[in-house]
Amino acid sequence: MRRAVAVGTGVGHYPVPLVTRVFSGIQPSGALHLGNLLGAVRNWVVDQHEADSFFCVVDLHALTTPQDPAALRAATVGLAQLLMACGLDPEVCTLFVQSQVAAHTELAWLMECTVSFGELRRMTQFKDKSDRSDFVSAALFTYPALMAADILLYDTDRVPVGDDQRQHLELTRDVAIRFNSRYGDTFVVPEAVIPKAGARVMDLQSPTNKMSKSLDSPQGTIGVLDDLEQIDKKIKRAVTDTDGEVRFDPSNKPGVSNLLSILAACTGRTPEQTAEGYSQYGPLKSDTAAAVVEVLTPIQQRYRELAGDPAETARLLALGADKAAAVAGPVLQRARAAIGLLPRA
Ligand code: AMP
Ligand code: TRP
Repeated sequence: MRRAVAVGTGVGHYPVPLVTRVFSGIQPSGALHLGNLLGAVRNWVVDQHEADSFFCVVDLHALTTPQDPAALRAATVGLAQLLMACGLDPEVCTLFVQSQVAAHTELAWLMECTVSFGELRRMTQFKDKSDRSDFVSAALFTYPALMAADILLYDTDRVPVGDDQRQHLELTRDVAIRFNSRYGDTFVVPEAVIPKAGARVMDLQSPTNKMSKSLDSPQGTIGVLDDLEQIDKKIKRAVTDTDGEVRFDPSNKPGVSNLLSILAACTGRTPEQTAEGYSQYGPLKSDTAAAVVEVLTPIQQRYRELAGDPAETARLLALGADKAAAVAGPVLQRARAAIGLLPRA
């Protein structure tokens, strides 16, 4: 149940809807893979029916590393279409593109002024990404302030994200609490919702690494839009081990356990239950491949339909941006007033 917030000085009380609010974001960089689908997007599809849910294609976050403009535009539209193909329904949830709601960048500045240099410096994602890049933008460093703005703008209660975002969520909470204590109760303090360990899909070729968008391991990564025959081959060539026993044991048998997790996630069972049905790797691989193909076939089909009608996508995204702006606007005004910015006459 949603907590009603007493809001900042001079702006009075705002009505707060008594439903849980969910917000999450995903970057339009790299192709959506099976890990994103099973670890994140499938949960969002469920969330949209249970909470007032906002899902955002965070194109401004993608800009923290240099992007080709035409490729960024295509990736932004493509990801929005793919999210719809995966089951996010713009009639049920609010699906929008971050840069189309100006409040995000405006609140991000207030967040930058509330977060400390030391806090940003401790972010491990910045350390990882800056070590790997030649050009490190200032925005890559301040990225968590924009992410905090994304979340806080919607009076968000719950943020479904992967384990890798835990630190950013803690920072968002700290910033919200600091802002509220400095300027009066303004923001809802959100909670991260992180799926259990089983929801982590590993690389098929190096199963101790997470499946990821980076193109280092094309044979180990299953793109949601990959050719279905290629997917079948990749799963059948997945690295296992030599002891020949089918058992869910991620630390000692990472390859086999990953296949069990994937098959379990596709069929709605637990990896342990799934393991009971197999004594050999061959059938486990064939069934996993078949289950993944079955999940992806309708998604690919719907994606092709949506991709054929870019005007309809643009219309739906404009609608999403309007719905998002209607919620974000008053929260931004509340924050502006609380911090002492002059209201527009
Ligand atoms: P990213 O690909 O890092 O932009 O992540 C988008 C969403 O997918 C986040 O919620 C991630 O935590 C989640 N995610 C990314 N990779 C995986 C994976 N291999 N297994 C499960 N979830 C993942
Ligand atoms: N930083 C997240 C990632 O890289 C994406 C993101 C941006 C996000 N803003 C968000 C996730 C707000 C959840 C909520 O995956």
